[in-house]
Amino acid sequence: MNQKKLNIGLIGCGFMGRTHSNAFRQAGVFFQPEFTPVLKAVCARTADTVENFAAQWGYESTETDWRKLIERDDIDLVDIATPNDSHYEIAIAAAEAGKMVMCEKPLGRSAKESAAMTAAVESAGVANMVWYNYRRIPAVTLAKQIIDEGKLGKIFHYRANFLQDWTIATDLPQGGEALWRLDKDVAGSGVTGDLLAHCIDTAMWLNGGIAEVSGMTETFVKERQHQLTGKVQPVTIDDASIFLARFANGSIGQFEATRYARGHKALYTLEINGEHASLKWDLHDLHRLQMFDHADEGRTRGWRSVHITDGDHPYMDRWWVPGLQIGYEHSFTHQFADFLTGIASDQPLSPSFAEALNTDRVTDAVLASAETRQWKTIGN
Ligand SMILES: NC(=O)c1ccc[n+]([C@@H]2O[C@H](COP(=O)([O-])OP(=O)(O)OC[C@H]3O[C@@H](n4cnc5c(N)ncnc54)[C@H](O)[C@@H]3O)[C@@H](O)[C@H]2O)c1
Repeated sequence: MNQKKLNIGLIGCGFMGRTHSNAFRQAGVFFQPEFTPVLKAVCARTADTVENFAAQWGYESTETDWRKLIERDDIDLVDIATPNDSHYEIAIAAAEAGKMVMCEKPLGRSAKESAAMTAAVESAGVANMVWYNYRRIPAVTLAKQIIDEGKLGKIFHYRANFLQDWTIATDLPQGGEALWRLDKDVAGSGVTGDLLAHCIDTAMWLNGGIAEVSGMTETFVKERQHQLTGKVQPVTIDDASIFLARFANGSIGQFEATRYARGHKALYTLEINGEHASLKWDLHDLHRLQMFDHADEGRTRGWRSVHITDGDHPYMDRWWVPGLQIGYEHSFTHQFADFLTGIASDQPLSPSFAEALNTDRVTDAVLASAETRQWKTIGN
């Protein structure tokens, strides 16, 4: 029986606070890692919120100031699940205090912030990871394995979409609780940093680095009332963002994200086409991987829909029995289980802050390209 404990301090009790808390509870039970996660403390700005959250999820203690949480000797890992404008300050303070840091995406509001955060964790030598959780959906992990085995051959195309429709109403306010994603000062950007960042992380993980991009963005609703000031103010985030990419391996890509695709709530799709085979995946059917293999016998060749539920599929031996699928929340559990395994075995943690910084370099380049209407090379 394992006796090593990892004391977690979570900051932020919203959507991601819930997915992370669920992962902390499930990873220990289903993956039985060397370190047992302990839900030591949780932090939100108001006592009522944090106490209710702690009671619901089983945290031992609460804080209403994240600085206090970081100062505590009994916290090993600081987990950042707050809006984007606080990632920078919290991550750097946590690293300087010698804590392991897990941070929600995008790492910073810009590559400049992310570079400083990366330097802080690297100079402190602390374990670090960013919650690009889609890598850990078993069908996506299997796609990575198939690509790495060379089954697709030379890659020609990569395409990804992340489509939503929740900001179409013109009377939706911007900024403040729940609507911070519409406020550029808090979010850093609109769908580019929010949705395309996921697509870029997965794309570079599956298909390698992106060398250059040409982007186009649009803000469909130009003014909205700000929730905090009550004033009607210009909207400065990108509502929709589309870009073309050249990958370092010579393949070409197209990416689109929007919050104005009526009917789509969170449709993340990706496809990769190689010389010998192609793969497709769709978040709304997340337990399936579509594969076309040109090596199949001609008369029955076609797209296969592989149901990712067997014990030899990534992560699936930890769950139920073949045929029974898992869901969205498991991607966070898998990521946290991999974090625990990584720190126990001194294995590299991925995606690290350094990898997330590369994603932010691409999102910055997409925004700069859209503004200048010119191709941009991805800088260092
Ligand atoms: N990995 C993913 O798929 C995914 C999905 C959604 C959001 N995110 C990211 O997660 C982060 C949080 O997003 P969310 O959807 O959970 O937002 P949210 O608005 O649901 O929750 C944010 C929480 O942080 C709290 N908070 C704000 N400032 C704080 C502070 N200074 N101290 C303590 N608590 C504070 C808020 O009160 C709220 O409870 C963002 O960076 C977002 O981009 C990632």
